[in-house]
Amino acid sequence: MEIVLIGFMGSGKTTISQLLGKILAKPVVDLDQAIVKQAGSEITEIFNRHGEQYFRQLEHDSLKRIITESGILATGGGTPLRADNAEILATSGAKVILLEASGETILERLKTDCSRPLAKQMAKQQLLALKQARQSHYQQCADLTIQTDKLTPKEVVAKILASLETVV
Ligand code: S3P
Repeated sequence: MEIVLIGFMGSGKTTISQLLGKILAKPVVDLDQAIVKQAGSEITEIFNRHGEQYFRQLEHDSLKRIITESGILATGGGTPLRADNAEILATSGAKVILLEASGETILERLKTDCSRPLAKQMAKQQLLALKQARQSHYQQCADLTIQTDKLTPKEVVAKILASLETVV
């Protein structure tokens, strides 16, 4: 992968990866979707049937395989937390971009979402605490951080393109 997007649930990884893929004419892989395809079940179903640890192993296995492909990868919100995943990202040669959004923005975006098992089962304060607890992991993995709250998807992509000028 040449570009990897990381960030909390609802930070815009999927939207931005799609837009970026169109503009750069590069393939886009969504790690969650790759897991769903491989497992033949939705993320919620995987969590319900087998638990989070099982999902995390599928996530790790998929990351290890997909990172060697060419293109843009949108990770899951929990991907950078495992040390072995962080290591894969760090040694991949990809530019790792953290999409950051305030707790308020994240809560607003996740309000009506039913597809994320962790978000579904947590109260607002728990979600904010989870975001806070993950922050240092995200930051350690990131080559670039973009604060997205006040930006449109196109503006976020413009910032990414500006940062890539010398590498893409
Ligand atoms: C998760 C985020 C989800 C998905 C799973 C777990 C997390 O991805 O991988 O529900 O632990 O933050 P998105 O960040 O794309 O929602």
